[in-house]
Amino acid sequence: MAILDGKPVAEKIHGLIKDEVAAIKKEHGQTPGLTVIMAGDNPASHAYVKSKSKLAEQMGIRSNLLKLPADAQLEEIIKTIEICNTDARIHAVLVQMPLPAHLDSWKILDHIRPEKDVDCFHPFNLGMILLGRSRIFPCTPAGILEILDYYKIDVSGLKIAVVGRSFLVGKPMAMMLSNRNATVTLCHSKTAKLEKITIDADLIVAAVGRPGFIKADMVKPGVILIDVGINHIRHEDDFVANCQPSQYEGFKKKGYAITGDIHFQAYAKASFFTPVPGGVGPLTVTMLMHNTLELCKRSLSVTRDEK
Ligand code: GUN
Repeated sequence: MAILDGKPVAEKIHGLIKDEVAAIKKEHGQTPGLTVIMAGDNPASHAYVKSKSKLAEQMGIRSNLLKLPADAQLEEIIKTIEICNTDARIHAVLVQMPLPAHLDSWKILDHIRPEKDVDCFHPFNLGMILLGRSRIFPCTPAGILEILDYYKIDVSGLKIAVVGRSFLVGKPMAMMLSNRNATVTLCHSKTAKLEKITIDADLIVAAVGRPGFIKADMVKPGVILIDVGINHIRHEDDFVANCQPSQYEGFKKKGYAITGDIHFQAYAKASFFTPVPGGVGPLTVTMLMHNTLELCKRSLSVTRDEK
């Protein structure tokens, strides 16, 4: 049972990003620029946004936050996106998810110019991923591939169950793994007899947002487990059901514990697993910086376009 620690992977990429950002500044007089648009006051989004601006600063990337009220209307958000689309100093635009419930995400995301779509959520960019023609990918699945590469895990020929079909993680992840010659089953909350699929999988990616959803009896010995879940546990009985006893002191002190979508007892059966926190999490913001740099390079024609 070996831990796939995300921190050294992220640190290695940070070094590469910093060097490239410095080179672009020197050779082109340009600073890669990222703008985050956030509507409302979702506490988890605040934490993400803060970590984005902190890492951007460390990488030498210019970042700014455009904050809109929770009752912002579609037109106002689209207008904000369009200002970013035409500002040459902004190479990357991100609309923080989730949006307030009255807003239709697709109606908003469709307005980000594909060339500035740092999340790869625009239908054009998702289509390029489907075709295996994209050079950048949504941040969380991109981070997972970086972890697999760093630890030399070749997915070619593996049976993989991706559990969760969100457009942020599950759907692009399934495509990206398929493009690497894995045999992928994309599962979700309505999958009948899910355990029959997961027990047969060589590798499982869990991105369902439910604590301990993948239980020990649903996985085979030697499986590789990639846990995308970041679930906050606040109640004692949920803690007992989902968290490791060693987390108890921290739980009592902070009033919450963080746990993944895969039950910790399943980790014990795995050959490799990503811990929560500290596995996939650190890579998500890292890959956002990577994508920002890529979009900047593309705007300067430093990289060639896709095949
Ligand atoms: N909210 C949680 N993860 C993400 C992400 O990868 N992109 C955006 N835009 N919002 C998120």
